[in-house]
Amino acid sequence: MARAHIEQAKKNQKDPSTAHKNNKSSMVHYFLTSDLPESERDTNRLGREIMLVLGAGTATTTRALNIATYYIVTNPAIEGRLRREVAEAMSGYPERVPKWSELERVPFLTACIKEALRLVSFSLF
Ligand code: HEM
Repeated sequence: MARAHIEQAKKNQKDPSTAHKNNKSSMVHYFLTSDLPESERDTNRLGREIMLVLGAGTATTTRALNIATYYIVTNPAIEGRLRREVAEAMSGYPERVPKWSELERVPFLTACIKEALRLVSFSLF
């Protein structure tokens, strides 16, 4: 799939009618329009780069979410406080989804996220 996506992106880059539109539409398009030397734009190399980002971004995020969820739901005081503090920002949900900037203003949520990231850094190594 990665190889097919890269080949398609390479074709689009050459087509003047879509090249501009596709310039920055994915990481692959970004690489293809960057000043990377030709040797580093090889389909297999870019494919490996994509797998690296997918792997690096998936396992780590999963682990951080696991840790956060475990410690929140096994500590009723923490879960209760978090639910109370998040309730206002989430009051219009699902009709209105809060912006990330609004959630950032919920101090206890930010604290829980930072604590999960602190704990995940011990568990990775
Ligand atoms: C909780 C989430 C994450 C944690 C704990 C984490 C942790 C790390 C750590 C410890 C490193 C090594 C840094 C170094 O020593 O140089 C790293 C590198 C990297 N991470 Fe993450 N990461 C997370 C999320 C992500 C996500 C979401 C992506 C991509 C979508 C990503 C992509 C990468 C890449 C590409 C590298 C290599 C960077 C380089 O050296 O060029 N990570 N990450």
